[in-house]
Amino acid sequence: MRKVLPYRIFRRGSYVVPFLFCAVVFFGSIFALFPYIIVDIGYLARPIWDKETIIFPEEIVHYYAEGMSMEARCEAHGWKARNATLTEAGTPATRTPLVYDAVIFSVELDMLEIRMRETWDVVDKFLIVESNGTFTGLPKDTTFADNRKRFAFAESKIVYKFVPLYPLTGKDTAWDNEGRMRWAMQDHIMDSGVQDGDVVTFSDVDEVISKKTLELFKYCEGTPDSVHMHLNNYIYSYEYPNRDRSWRSSVNRWKRGESRYNHGQNSKFILSDAGWHCSFCFRTIDEFRFKMLAYSHADRVRTKKLLETESIQKAICDGTDLWGMFPEAFTFKELLTRLGGIPKSTTAVGLPLWVLENRDRFRYLLPGGCQRGDSLLSASS
Ligand SMILES: *[C@@H]1O[C@H](CO)[C@@H](O)[C@H](O)[C@H]1NC(C)=O
Ligand SMILES: *[C@@H]1O[C@H](CO)[C@@H](O)[C@H](O)[C@H]1NC(C)=O
Repeated sequence: MRKVLPYRIFRRGSYVVPFLFCAVVFFGSIFALFPYIIVDIGYLARPIWDKETIIFPEEIVHYYAEGMSMEARCEAHGWKARNATLTEAGTPATRTPLVYDAVIFSVELDMLEIRMRETWDVVDKFLIVESNGTFTGLPKDTTFADNRKRFAFAESKIVYKFVPLYPLTGKDTAWDNEGRMRWAMQDHIMDSGVQDGDVVTFSDVDEVISKKTLELFKYCEGTPDSVHMHLNNYIYSYEYPNRDRSWRSSVNRWKRGESRYNHGQNSKFILSDAGWHCSFCFRTIDEFRFKMLAYSHADRVRTKKLLETESIQKAICDGTDLWGMFPEAFTFKELLTRLGGIPKSTTAVGLPLWVLENRDRFRYLLPGGCQRGDSLLSASS
Protein backbone atom coordinates (compact mmCIF):
# COMPACT_ATOMS: atom_id res chain seq x y z
CA MET A 1 0.00 0.00 0.00
CA ARG A 2 1.24 3.47 -0.80
CA LYS A 3 1.71 5.87 2.01
CA VAL A 4 -0.42 9.00 1.83
CA LEU A 5 2.04 11.80 2.15
CA PRO A 6 0.83 14.93 3.88
CA TYR A 7 0.96 17.06 0.73
CA ARG A 8 -1.38 14.60 -0.99
CA ILE A 9 -4.12 15.50 1.38
CA PHE A 10 -3.90 19.06 0.09
CA ARG A 11 -4.20 17.90 -3.47
CA ARG A 12 -7.39 16.05 -2.77
CA GLY A 13 -9.07 19.36 -2.10
CA SER A 14 -9.92 19.00 1.56
CA TYR A 15 -8.39 21.73 3.68
CA VAL A 16 -10.11 20.69 6.86
CA VAL A 17 -7.79 17.83 7.83
CA PRO A 18 -4.50 19.67 7.21
CA PHE A 19 -5.86 22.76 8.86
CA LEU A 20 -6.78 20.82 12.00
CA PHE A 21 -3.44 19.05 11.88
CA CYS A 22 -1.55 22.32 11.77
CA ALA A 23 -3.71 23.83 14.48
CA VAL A 24 -3.07 20.89 16.77
CA VAL A 25 0.67 21.02 16.15
CA PHE A 26 0.73 24.80 16.60
CA PHE A 27 -1.26 24.99 19.83
CA GLY A 28 0.31 21.77 21.08
CA SER A 29 3.78 23.29 20.84
CA ILE A 30 2.64 26.55 22.40
CA PHE A 31 1.23 24.70 25.40
CA ALA A 32 4.32 22.47 25.61
CA LEU A 33 6.60 25.52 25.59
CA PHE A 34 4.44 27.78 27.80
CA PRO A 35 2.26 25.54 29.95
CA TYR A 36 0.90 28.51 31.90
CA ILE A 37 -0.07 30.64 28.95
CA ILE A 38 -3.79 30.49 29.77
CA VAL A 39 -3.13 31.81 33.27
CA ASP A 40 -0.85 34.50 31.86
CA ILE A 41 -3.39 35.55 29.25
CA GLY A 42 -5.95 35.62 32.03
CA TYR A 43 -3.81 38.06 33.99
CA LEU A 44 -2.99 40.19 30.96
CA ALA A 45 -6.65 40.34 29.98
CA ARG A 46 -7.83 41.05 33.50
CA PRO A 47 -8.93 44.60 32.68
CA ILE A 48 -11.45 43.02 30.27
CA TRP A 49 -12.96 40.37 32.51
CA ASP A 50 -12.60 41.76 35.98
CA LYS A 51 -13.69 44.91 37.76
CA GLU A 52 -12.88 46.14 41.21
CA THR A 53 -16.10 45.34 43.02
CA ILE A 54 -15.41 46.65 46.51
CA ILE A 55 -16.76 50.16 46.71
CA PHE A 56 -16.89 52.51 49.67
CA PRO A 57 -19.39 55.32 49.11
CA GLU A 58 -18.05 57.23 52.10
CA GLU A 59 -14.34 58.00 51.85
CA ILE A 60 -13.31 59.81 55.01
CA VAL A 61 -10.51 62.33 54.50
CA HIS A 62 -7.93 61.87 57.25
CA TYR A 63 -6.82 65.12 58.88
CA TYR A 64 -3.60 65.09 60.81
CA ALA A 65 -0.54 67.24 61.30
CA GLU A 66 2.03 67.14 64.03
CA GLY A 67 0.99 69.36 66.90
CA MET A 68 -2.72 69.37 66.02
CA SER A 69 -4.77 69.05 69.22
CA MET A 70 -7.09 66.12 69.78
CA GLU A 71 -10.06 68.51 69.85
CA ALA A 72 -9.08 69.97 66.48
CA ARG A 73 -8.57 66.52 65.00
CA CYS A 74 -12.00 65.31 66.11
CA GLU A 75 -13.64 68.46 64.79
CA ALA A 76 -11.89 68.28 61.42
CA HIS A 77 -13.64 64.94 60.85
CA GLY A 78 -17.01 66.27 61.96
CA TRP A 79 -16.78 64.50 65.33
CA LYS A 80 -16.52 65.86 68.84
CA ALA A 81 -13.75 65.42 71.37
CA ARG A 82 -14.93 63.26 74.22
CA ASN A 83 -13.52 65.79 76.66
CA ALA A 84 -15.55 68.62 75.20
CA THR A 85 -18.60 67.67 77.24
CA LEU A 86 -17.72 67.67 80.91
CA THR A 87 -19.88 66.87 83.90
CA GLU A 88 -20.23 69.33 86.76
CA ALA A 89 -17.37 67.54 88.47
CA GLY A 90 -15.22 68.39 85.44
CA THR A 91 -14.82 64.82 84.22
CA PRO A 92 -15.77 63.72 80.69
CA ALA A 93 -19.50 63.10 80.43
CA THR A 94 -19.04 59.80 78.63
CA ARG A 95 -16.84 56.85 79.50
CA THR A 96 -13.68 56.63 77.42
CA PRO A 97 -14.02 53.37 75.51
CA LEU A 98 -11.41 50.65 75.86
CA VAL A 99 -9.55 49.68 72.69
CA TYR A 100 -9.15 45.96 71.93
CA ASP A 101 -6.64 44.95 69.30
CA ALA A 102 -7.84 41.54 68.10
CA VAL A 103 -5.38 39.55 66.04
CA ILE A 104 -5.16 35.98 64.78
CA PHE A 105 -1.46 35.19 64.96
CA SER A 106 0.50 32.96 62.61
CA VAL A 107 4.29 33.47 62.55
CA GLU A 108 4.98 37.20 62.08
CA LEU A 109 6.79 38.06 65.33
CA ASP A 110 8.43 41.26 64.07
CA MET A 111 5.16 42.63 62.74
CA LEU A 112 3.41 41.85 66.03
CA GLU A 113 6.12 43.66 67.95
CA ILE A 114 5.95 46.71 65.65
CA ARG A 115 2.17 46.71 65.97
CA MET A 116 2.16 46.52 69.76
CA ARG A 117 4.81 49.22 70.15
CA GLU A 118 3.03 51.49 67.69
CA THR A 119 -0.36 51.30 69.39
CA TRP A 120 0.78 50.72 72.98
CA ASP A 121 -0.46 54.06 74.38
CA VAL A 122 -3.94 53.72 72.98
CA VAL A 123 -4.70 49.98 73.09
CA ASP A 124 -6.00 48.56 76.38
CA LYS A 125 -5.94 44.86 75.54
CA PHE A 126 -4.16 42.83 72.89
CA LEU A 127 -6.33 39.80 72.18
CA ILE A 128 -4.25 37.11 70.50
CA VAL A 129 -5.56 33.84 69.11
CA GLU A 130 -3.12 31.20 67.89
CA SER A 131 -3.36 27.61 66.68
CA ASN A 132 -1.10 24.60 66.30
CA GLY A 133 -2.33 24.04 62.74
CA THR A 134 -2.30 26.03 59.51
CA PHE A 135 -5.60 26.74 57.77
CA THR A 136 -4.74 23.79 55.52
CA GLY A 137 -4.55 21.55 58.58
CA LEU A 138 -0.79 21.00 58.71
CA PRO A 139 0.90 21.12 62.12
CA LYS A 140 2.68 24.36 62.97
CA ASP A 141 4.57 25.70 65.97
CA THR A 142 2.70 27.90 68.41
CA THR A 143 5.16 30.66 67.55
CA PHE A 144 3.73 33.30 69.86
CA ALA A 145 3.57 30.99 72.88
CA ASP A 146 7.10 29.77 72.14
CA ASN A 147 8.40 33.37 71.98
CA ARG A 148 6.25 34.92 74.66
CA LYS A 149 9.33 36.11 76.59
CA ARG A 150 9.99 38.54 73.76
CA PHE A 151 6.66 40.24 74.55
CA ALA A 152 7.29 40.60 78.27
CA PHE A 153 7.04 44.38 77.79
CA ALA A 154 3.37 43.98 76.85
CA GLU A 155 2.39 41.20 79.24
CA SER A 156 0.03 43.42 81.26
CA LYS A 157 -2.21 43.89 78.22
CA ILE A 158 -1.94 40.51 76.49
CA VAL A 159 -4.88 38.10 76.60
CA TYR A 160 -3.91 34.90 74.81
CA LYS A 161 -6.00 32.00 73.58
CA PHE A 162 -4.83 28.73 72.08
CA VAL A 163 -7.16 27.07 69.55
CA PRO A 164 -6.39 23.54 68.33
CA LEU A 165 -6.89 22.87 64.63
CA TYR A 166 -6.88 19.37 63.16
CA PRO A 167 -5.85 17.84 59.82
CA LEU A 168 -8.58 18.40 57.22
CA THR A 169 -11.05 15.53 56.91
CA GLY A 170 -14.02 14.86 54.62
CA LYS A 171 -15.40 17.98 53.03
CA ASP A 172 -13.46 20.36 55.28
CA THR A 173 -11.45 23.05 53.49
CA ALA A 174 -8.97 25.71 54.51
CA TRP A 175 -11.91 28.14 54.54
CA ASP A 176 -13.57 26.11 57.31
CA ASN A 177 -10.44 26.32 59.42
CA GLU A 178 -10.16 30.02 58.80
CA GLY A 179 -13.79 30.34 59.90
CA ARG A 180 -13.03 28.37 63.07
CA MET A 181 -10.25 30.78 63.96
CA ARG A 182 -12.50 33.80 63.40
CA TRP A 183 -15.25 32.30 65.57
CA ALA A 184 -12.68 31.52 68.26
CA MET A 185 -11.70 35.19 68.15
CA GLN A 186 -15.36 36.19 68.42
CA ASP A 187 -15.64 34.15 71.64
CA HIS A 188 -12.33 35.51 72.87
CA ILE A 189 -13.52 39.12 72.41
CA MET A 190 -16.77 38.42 74.25
CA ASP A 191 -14.95 36.61 77.06
CA SER A 192 -12.57 39.54 77.49
CA GLY A 193 -15.16 41.77 79.15
CA VAL A 194 -15.81 44.01 76.14
CA GLN A 195 -18.65 46.49 76.64
CA ASP A 196 -20.96 48.05 74.08
CA GLY A 197 -19.24 51.06 72.57
CA ASP A 198 -15.72 49.74 73.11
CA VAL A 199 -13.44 49.84 70.11
CA VAL A 200 -12.33 46.55 68.49
CA THR A 201 -9.96 46.26 65.56
CA PHE A 202 -10.50 43.52 62.96
CA SER A 203 -7.17 43.16 61.19
CA ASP A 204 -4.43 40.71 60.30
CA VAL A 205 -1.02 40.86 61.97
CA ASP A 206 0.61 42.59 59.00
CA GLU A 207 -2.16 45.20 58.84
CA VAL A 208 -0.93 47.72 61.40
CA ILE A 209 -3.39 50.49 62.22
CA SER A 210 -1.56 53.63 63.32
CA LYS A 211 -1.74 55.07 66.81
CA LYS A 212 -3.11 58.37 65.53
CA THR A 213 -5.95 56.54 63.78
CA LEU A 214 -6.95 54.60 66.89
CA GLU A 215 -6.85 57.83 68.91
CA LEU A 216 -9.68 59.18 66.77
CA PHE A 217 -11.91 56.27 67.74
CA LYS A 218 -10.94 56.37 71.39
CA TYR A 219 -11.10 60.11 71.99
CA CYS A 220 -13.75 61.34 69.54
CA GLU A 221 -17.52 60.93 69.85
CA GLY A 222 -19.75 60.50 66.81
CA THR A 223 -17.51 58.26 64.70
CA PRO A 224 -19.36 55.69 62.53
CA ASP A 225 -19.89 52.28 64.17
CA SER A 226 -17.63 50.57 61.67
CA VAL A 227 -14.94 52.10 59.48
CA HIS A 228 -12.58 50.31 57.11
CA MET A 229 -8.94 51.21 57.19
CA HIS A 230 -7.30 52.31 53.95
CA LEU A 231 -3.77 51.26 54.84
CA ASN A 232 -0.69 52.27 52.91
CA ASN A 233 0.15 49.06 51.14
CA TYR A 234 3.65 47.60 50.78
CA ILE A 235 5.23 44.38 49.64
CA TYR A 236 8.54 42.90 50.97
CA SER A 237 9.29 46.07 52.98
CA TYR A 238 8.40 49.73 53.35
CA GLU A 239 10.67 50.30 50.34
CA TYR A 240 8.04 49.01 47.91
CA PRO A 241 4.70 50.84 48.06
CA ASN A 242 2.15 48.59 46.40
CA ARG A 243 -0.63 50.34 44.50
CA ASP A 244 -3.37 47.85 45.38
CA ARG A 245 -5.77 49.26 47.91
CA SER A 246 -5.62 47.61 51.31
CA TRP A 247 -9.16 47.96 52.70
CA ARG A 248 -9.97 44.77 54.66
CA SER A 249 -9.08 45.82 58.17
CA SER A 250 -11.63 47.80 60.14
CA VAL A 251 -12.22 49.56 63.44
CA ASN A 252 -15.54 48.80 65.09
CA ARG A 253 -17.63 49.98 67.98
CA TRP A 254 -18.65 46.76 69.65
CA LYS A 255 -22.33 45.97 69.85
CA ARG A 256 -23.21 42.79 71.68
CA GLY A 257 -25.30 40.46 69.52
CA GLU A 258 -24.43 42.34 66.33
CA SER A 259 -20.69 42.72 65.93
CA ARG A 260 -19.00 39.77 64.31
CA TYR A 261 -15.25 39.43 63.86
CA ASN A 262 -14.58 39.22 60.12
CA HIS A 263 -12.22 40.31 57.37
CA GLY A 264 -14.71 41.29 54.65
CA GLN A 265 -16.62 44.47 53.91
CA ASN A 266 -18.90 45.46 56.78
CA SER A 267 -19.26 49.18 56.30
CA LYS A 268 -19.59 51.85 53.61
CA PHE A 269 -16.95 53.99 55.34
CA ILE A 270 -13.22 53.95 54.73
CA LEU A 271 -10.61 56.18 56.37
CA SER A 272 -7.57 57.08 54.29
CA ASP A 273 -3.93 56.88 55.39
CA ALA A 274 -4.86 54.80 58.43
CA GLY A 275 -1.71 52.72 58.85
CA TRP A 276 0.57 50.26 57.04
CA HIS A 277 -0.06 46.89 55.41
CA CYS A 278 3.24 45.15 54.71
CA SER A 279 2.72 41.84 52.86
CA PHE A 280 5.54 39.32 52.58
CA CYS A 281 7.68 41.51 54.78
CA PHE A 282 9.89 38.72 56.07
CA ARG A 283 13.31 38.87 57.62
CA THR A 284 14.71 35.66 56.10
CA ILE A 285 14.56 33.91 52.76
CA ASP A 286 13.38 30.77 54.57
CA GLU A 287 10.25 32.58 55.70
CA PHE A 288 9.55 33.57 52.10
CA ARG A 289 9.92 29.96 51.01
CA PHE A 290 7.64 28.77 53.82
CA LYS A 291 4.99 31.32 52.93
CA MET A 292 5.20 30.60 49.19
CA LEU A 293 4.44 26.95 49.89
CA ALA A 294 1.95 27.42 52.72
CA TYR A 295 0.18 30.32 51.09
CA SER A 296 -3.20 29.66 49.53
CA HIS A 297 -1.53 30.10 46.14
CA ALA A 298 1.04 27.33 46.55
CA ASP A 299 -0.07 26.16 43.10
CA ARG A 300 1.63 29.26 41.69
CA VAL A 301 5.03 27.69 42.34
CA ARG A 302 5.52 26.60 38.72
CA THR A 303 9.12 25.49 38.95
CA LYS A 304 11.41 24.55 41.83
CA LYS A 305 13.70 27.33 40.67
CA LEU A 306 11.29 29.91 42.09
CA LEU A 307 12.08 28.58 45.56
CA GLU A 308 15.84 28.98 45.17
CA THR A 309 17.46 31.63 47.32
CA GLU A 310 18.84 33.63 44.37
CA SER A 311 15.47 33.75 42.66
CA ILE A 312 13.66 34.95 45.79
CA GLN A 313 16.40 37.45 46.63
CA LYS A 314 16.28 38.86 43.11
CA ALA A 315 12.49 39.32 43.21
CA ILE A 316 12.79 41.16 46.54
CA CYS A 317 15.49 43.53 45.31
CA ASP A 318 13.76 44.12 41.95
CA GLY A 319 10.33 44.59 43.50
CA THR A 320 8.93 41.97 41.11
CA ASP A 321 6.53 39.08 41.66
CA LEU A 322 7.92 36.11 43.61
CA TRP A 323 6.14 33.71 41.27
CA GLY A 324 7.18 35.53 38.09
CA MET A 325 3.54 36.29 37.31
CA PHE A 326 2.17 39.34 35.57
CA PRO A 327 0.77 41.99 37.89
CA GLU A 328 -2.93 41.98 38.65
CA ALA A 329 -4.51 45.17 37.41
CA PHE A 330 -7.99 46.37 36.62
CA THR A 331 -7.04 48.73 33.79
CA PHE A 332 -4.54 48.35 30.95
CA LYS A 333 -2.93 51.65 31.85
CA GLU A 334 -2.24 50.34 35.32
CA LEU A 335 -1.07 46.99 34.01
CA LEU A 336 1.53 48.71 31.83
CA THR A 337 2.81 50.91 34.61
CA ARG A 338 3.19 47.87 36.85
CA LEU A 339 5.19 45.72 34.47
CA GLY A 340 8.83 45.59 35.45
CA GLY A 341 8.48 45.85 39.20
CA ILE A 342 7.51 48.35 41.83
CA PRO A 343 9.61 51.54 41.90
CA LYS A 344 11.62 51.86 45.10
CA SER A 345 10.64 54.46 47.64
CA THR A 346 13.40 56.60 49.12
CA THR A 347 11.47 57.96 52.07
CA ALA A 348 11.02 56.66 55.58
CA VAL A 349 8.89 59.58 56.69
CA GLY A 350 5.64 58.54 58.31
CA LEU A 351 6.61 54.92 59.02
CA PRO A 352 5.94 53.28 62.40
CA LEU A 353 8.03 54.99 65.06
CA TRP A 354 9.32 51.71 66.49
CA VAL A 355 10.86 50.75 63.14
CA LEU A 356 12.70 54.07 62.91
CA GLU A 357 13.87 53.86 66.50
CA ASN A 358 15.27 50.37 65.84
CA ARG A 359 16.69 50.86 62.39
CA ASP A 360 19.44 48.28 62.81
CA ARG A 361 17.10 45.48 63.77
CA PHE A 362 14.55 46.44 61.13
CA ARG A 363 17.04 47.33 58.38
CA TYR A 364 15.31 44.82 56.09
CA LEU A 365 12.06 46.81 56.27
CA LEU A 366 13.61 50.12 55.30
CA PRO A 367 14.68 51.61 51.95
CA GLY A 368 18.06 50.16 50.91
CA GLY A 369 17.63 47.01 52.99
CA CYS A 370 16.43 44.50 50.41
CA GLN A 371 19.34 42.05 50.92
CA ARG A 372 18.21 39.28 53.24
CA GLY A 373 21.60 38.05 54.44
CA ASP A 374 22.57 35.55 57.10
CA SER A 375 23.43 38.42 59.39
CA LEU A 376 19.71 39.03 59.65
CA LEU A 377 18.84 35.48 60.58
CA SER A 378 18.65 36.00 64.31
CA ALA A 379 15.93 38.28 65.52
CA SER A 380 17.21 39.68 68.77
CA SER A 381 14.58 41.19 71.00
C1 LIG B 1 -9.17 64.51 78.52
O1 LIG B 1 -9.19 65.11 79.79
C2 LIG B 1 -8.37 64.48 80.75
C3 LIG B 1 -8.55 65.17 82.09
O2 LIG B 1 -9.66 65.95 82.12
C4 LIG B 1 -6.92 64.51 80.30
O3 LIG B 1 -6.10 63.83 81.22
C5 LIG B 1 -6.81 63.86 78.93
O4 LIG B 1 -5.50 63.97 78.46
C6 LIG B 1 -7.77 64.50 77.94
N1 LIG B 1 -7.72 63.74 76.72
C7 LIG B 1 -7.60 64.29 75.53
C8 LIG B 1 -7.52 63.36 74.38
O5 LIG B 1 -7.55 65.47 75.35
C1 LIG C 1 -3.31 20.38 67.83
O1 LIG C 1 -3.37 19.99 69.16
C2 LIG C 1 -4.37 19.02 69.45
C3 LIG C 1 -4.32 18.78 70.94
O2 LIG C 1 -4.53 19.96 71.63
C4 LIG C 1 -4.11 17.76 68.66
O3 LIG C 1 -5.13 16.79 68.91
C5 LIG C 1 -4.09 18.09 67.18
O4 LIG C 1 -3.78 16.97 66.41
C6 LIG C 1 -3.06 19.19 66.91
N1 LIG C 1 -3.19 19.61 65.50
C7 LIG C 1 -2.24 19.44 64.60
C8 LIG C 1 -2.53 19.93 63.23
O5 LIG C 1 -1.18 18.91 64.84
